[in-house]
Amino acid sequence: MSDQRGIPRRTFLKSAVAIGGSAALSACVDRFGAPDVDRGPEDLSALPDRQHAWDEFLSTDDHGNVVPPRHHLLLLVDYEGDGRPTEGEREQVESAFRGLERAYERSNDGLVFTVGYTPAYFERFDDDLPGGVDLPEPEAMAPFEEPAFDTPDAAVHLASDHGQVVMAAEEALKGNQSTLNGVEMPASLSGVLSEADRRSGFVGAGLPAENDDVAGVPEGEVPEDAPLYMGFKSNFSKSQASEDFVTVDEGPFAGGTTQHVSKIRLHLDQWYDQDSRYHREATMFCPVHAEEGLVEGTGENMGDSSGMEEHGCPAHTEEHAREYGKVGHSQKSARAREDGSPLMIRRDFDATDDDRASLHFLSLQETIGDFVETREAMNGTDVAGESGVGQRTNNGILQYMTVERRGNYLLPPRDLRALPPARPE
Ligand code: HEM
Repeated sequence: MSDQRGIPRRTFLKSAVAIGGSAALSACVDRFGAPDVDRGPEDLSALPDRQHAWDEFLSTDDHGNVVPPRHHLLLLVDYEGDGRPTEGEREQVESAFRGLERAYERSNDGLVFTVGYTPAYFERFDDDLPGGVDLPEPEAMAPFEEPAFDTPDAAVHLASDHGQVVMAAEEALKGNQSTLNGVEMPASLSGVLSEADRRSGFVGAGLPAENDDVAGVPEGEVPEDAPLYMGFKSNFSKSQASEDFVTVDEGPFAGGTTQHVSKIRLHLDQWYDQDSRYHREATMFCPVHAEEGLVEGTGENMGDSSGMEEHGCPAHTEEHAREYGKVGHSQKSARAREDGSPLMIRRDFDATDDDRASLHFLSLQETIGDFVETREAMNGTDVAGESGVGQRTNNGILQYMTVERRGNYLLPPRDLRALPPARPE
């Protein structure tokens, strides 16, 4: 569908979210009207304690996999005051978040969001974070990477199927718009939290192919229906931990979780132009998947499981390295499971920020240690040196990605989400 000026609707909306701001938003509203989205409840007390309780509100596909919202925004923000936040500032920030919750129902169509705080934020308090909360400074996580570290005070993650909802929520948080979906915003973050960085993105069938006109991905190669640039479905429900599993279960931050965010640059020219479909299936999933032709198209045929345990892939990683000269990303990562459950929930999305194909990897886990353990499993350093497997070549998807930035956050429970102290009462 094109608008009256001949710009395809999808092209217009996609760049609008990446650009953001009130001009881009009003251009969208002028051309397409505002989406018809239900408001959230008047009484917010029924909302869950967990900010990250999204799954029960999001749609599921025919196999029961949770379908992530299509448009995402990560707003990295800094606290503007000196020293510690005041009660007045906490009330202002909490009112702004409540405004979002009243304006849009929690759903794909409406809005889901979280706010998390960095180790740098918590440094302003005399007390350390309580025992049981594992929130170290971010660090390099492989011998071959040199990431920069994100040290804003906080990050707000906004997501919706409607780019316009994400954009409007951002404008309302910044104080540039006083009503949201017809609801009066009681407050904004303005004067308390200001933007340090802005990262937008998308995930879902069709979006990567529509956004392939950037560096790092060969034009016309990403399958039309792929939800991510690398061409395969992600987030099978058996490959995700449950929200219970990743939740901090004791102490003042019980009900919270930790979040790791990395900015990963993708290099997919070779992936699509030189490497075969066999290689892509083997290195994304597992050599058995390539040998036995288990993955059709993007992998929708696999239902709710990427078939890791079912085909003995994690347990045979070393053997596969010797036998096939390559190992799979999922295969290696699945070695970090505990009683059959992965240690993290992945809520990542692709991006065209800086006109380069990238992926904002966002994961939730009870402790950052769980992330470290999974990333070590994914590194596959133990199998590098076997047959043709190098530190990065034929070693899952490591050759096609460069981690440029890393950041760690604590997502407090909802009642502590506004500028929490390090040791809440
Ligand atoms: C370019 C970046 C990445 C892409 C395109 C990607 C893609 C995928 C895909 C397609 C799968 C298999 C489908 C599924 O099980 O959901 C998968 C599994 C997985 N990935 Fe990634 N991934 C990326 C980076 C990472 C990173 C940085 C981590 C962090 C450790 C990670 C951890 C995992 C885990 C834990 C699994 C599931 C393993 C299991 O089944 O237990 N991935 N990924």
